[in-house]
Amino acid sequence: MDKFVVEGGRRLEGRVRINGSKNAALPLLAASILSAGKEVTLAGVPRLADIANMARLLDELGVEVASDESTDHSTDGAKASAYRLKPVDTGKSHARYDIVRTMRASVCVLGPLLAARGSARVSMPGGCAIGERPIDLHLRGLEALGARIELDAGDVIATVPGGRLRGATIFLGGAFGSTVLGTANVMSAATLAEGTTVIESAACEPEIVDLAKLLTAMGAKSEGAGSPRLTIHGVESLGGAHHTVMPDRIEAATYLCAAAITNGNVELENCPLDALLAVTDRLAAVGVQSETLGGDDPLRAHCRVTSERVLKPVSVTTQPFPGYPTDCQAQLMALLCLADGNSAITEKIFPERFLHVAELTRMGASLVRQGATVVVT
Ligand code: UD1
Repeated sequence: MDKFVVEGGRRLEGRVRINGSKNAALPLLAASILSAGKEVTLAGVPRLADIANMARLLDELGVEVASDESTDHSTDGAKASAYRLKPVDTGKSHARYDIVRTMRASVCVLGPLLAARGSARVSMPGGCAIGERPIDLHLRGLEALGARIELDAGDVIATVPGGRLRGATIFLGGAFGSTVLGTANVMSAATLAEGTTVIESAACEPEIVDLAKLLTAMGAKSEGAGSPRLTIHGVESLGGAHHTVMPDRIEAATYLCAAAITNGNVELENCPLDALLAVTDRLAAVGVQSETLGGDDPLRAHCRVTSERVLKPVSVTTQPFPGYPTDCQAQLMALLCLADGNSAITEKIFPERFLHVAELTRMGASLVRQGATVVVT
């Protein structure tokens, strides 16, 4: 699909079920490489192009991949797949540019390949629509675990002298704070290293906690996932496991904003409210209420979003979790275009992530950008 046609002017009302998280699912799928020939099954994997690309990449890397498409008819026919993954050919370790260029997150096979197979050749991901995105922290972390890393013709070539990574204490913070996929890579690699690894300034995102849950179910030993200090005690081998992917907090936040933009009344099922506190806090300040209707698990809540007629302006700065997420910055900006006064949005994770500013302006928004801040009138 290359275009959406949206007829505006209608209130959004009704119920919708939140799909599994893409950002959680990608490193979870890659973690299957760590299994010593046993099956890893993942339920609730969203049906998206990136997921299909990751499945294709894993297939090229000798992982047998099977998916059963299932339709969840509980409310809206949301579609998810269950994936069964089993490494069958451990001689393959080259992630080609053809695939990596279609999906930056291909880099999350690097840590698992190194740990399980002792070598990896992964094409360097290029830039993307939100700017230059380096992987220096991923490489620094893996080098601290004993990997030897060279760059050749646009590929990262990584090997493990002696065959097994060694635990280490690693500071993984960079100029923009922690790194989500960098933490996923180093954590995954450390599960099979000899000895204990401590990652300081680890990403605290809920998707990292979801990955730690799968790794633990496969037999890994770790503490502190979800906090800035992550400790991993290496084990000899990992087995199979079953895991259900957490719901997508970006998708949920998008519905929250869309409901508010149309002054709607929307119920969300399977909503990871507990991972959205920075978003619901800012939305409450704008005049948008999210009310829990039920569900024992705060990561899979049933909730309702409604908004006041007059929206108030707010200031928001994007930050690593638990701060306001960069992935929900554009949606909030669209909402704030309708607020009664001046709002300020500052982007601290990807300072160039403002492609939507020109497009909103074309639709009549009043936006002034100065560096990494946009004033919304
Ligand atoms: C993940 C998410 C993406 C989200 C981002 C930040 C996935 C598939 N994608 O991307 O949707 O917007 O987290 O929440 O999960 N950086 C470095 N060196 C590195 C790595 C990152 O300087 O080696 C910088 C980046 O340029 C950026 C910041 O660190 O400024 C955070 O990036 P990072 O958390 O790594 O983003 P991703 O994990 O790629």
